[in-house]
Amino acid sequence: MTGTSIAKAAGIWAGGLLLGLGLPYLPNLTSPRLTSFIGDFPIPDYPFAFPFFKNHTNLNTTSAPETPFVCDTSHTYRTELVSLEPLIIYIHDLITPAEITSLLETAEPKFAPSQVTKHGRQQQTSDRTSSSAGLPRDDPTVMCVLNRTRTFLGTMLRDGWDEMGPPQLVRYSSGQRFNVHHDWFDSPQWAPDGSPRKWNRVASFFAILEDTCTGGETHFPFAKPISSSSPLGEVMWQGAVTEEKQEAKPLWRKHEDGGLAFRPVAGNAIFWVNLHANGTGDPRTNHAGLPLETGRKTAMNIWPRQYYTYD
Ligand SMILES: *[C@@H]1O[C@H](CO)[C@@H](O)[C@H](O)[C@H]1NC(C)=O
Ligand SMILES: *[C@@H]1O[C@H](CO)[C@@H](O)[C@H](O)[C@H]1NC(C)=O
Ligand SMILES: *[C@@H]1O[C@H](CO)[C@@H](O)[C@H](O)[C@H]1NC(C)=O
Ligand SMILES: *[C@@H]1O[C@H](CO)[C@@H](O)[C@H](O)[C@H]1NC(C)=O
Repeated sequence: MTGTSIAKAAGIWAGGLLLGLGLPYLPNLTSPRLTSFIGDFPIPDYPFAFPFFKNHTNLNTTSAPETPFVCDTSHTYRTELVSLEPLIIYIHDLITPAEITSLLETAEPKFAPSQVTKHGRQQQTSDRTSSSAGLPRDDPTVMCVLNRTRTFLGTMLRDGWDEMGPPQLVRYSSGQRFNVHHDWFDSPQWAPDGSPRKWNRVASFFAILEDTCTGGETHFPFAKPISSSSPLGEVMWQGAVTEEKQEAKPLWRKHEDGGLAFRPVAGNAIFWVNLHANGTGDPRTNHAGLPLETGRKTAMNIWPRQYYTYD
């Protein structure tokens, strides 16, 4: 397609696209006592220059693991509803230990300082001090995890129209954090294939791969538990204490500044829906990566892309 024909097509489509675009993002939320800064920027897909891909010339095939990765399509995970508006679902055991090992190995040489998109440009900022690594979508483990998360989404994605988007790993060490932000873009993004379509991050999976840390909770200041504590004093709304992992602490808790804070637990993931049905961003999905006190936290970001229609 030539530049002019793209521009022409974009013009024709623009009427329909406008609906979903460019709305002011901060509505009148009854703001909890937020001490952290609220950023009006999303996380980028690409920690490095676009496009990222596996540099095959770097691959030493003789050092590949002896047994090739086999996707366990029968792998089961367990889900718990956390919040209805916005929709937040806690997923136990989404990523297997073998997948974690493989993903970390693939990403290890690629970590670089995380960037954010601010005022339409990618840049490093003191609001986000972690490192990120893009993951190749043709990697068997990445494909396996993307398949599983695609299945989880069901009818949210329309095959042949929407897509899973490129995943990335993000790593935090002592003192590092990501101030309050949202994952959806203020302005939807052009399709990478050059077609006159725009997309936004309809939902997010945030899966923990390494949790050898203190601190580093993921805090959603506007999230509310579905039900309040019962008269019996149950703490189920804080997340079940799972026996198999011998966890002494609940998986999530009410945060003192409002909302809910999720403790990083390797293999588990938080899923939430970023966009309203009309395609605009939901500011109640704002969240922060609270500073790590000690150790290291590594997580996988998966951002399914929903393309806007123009009817
Ligand atoms: C891929 O890696 C090789 C070896 O490190 C390097 O020489 C080459 O420039 C890289 N190619 C690209 C496109 O980055
Ligand atoms: C590839 O990896 C193997 C096993 O780790 C090593 O023995 C070999 O020297 C490596 N080759 C190159 C070209 O780096
Ligand atoms: C992903 O799912 C597709 C469709 O079900 C299947 O054909 C493919 O083998 C799966 N890939 C992996 C890596 O599991
Ligand atoms: C989109 O939906 C949200 C939630 O229902 C609403 O607050 C917002 O005003 C809507 N925006 C448009 C342009 O319809």
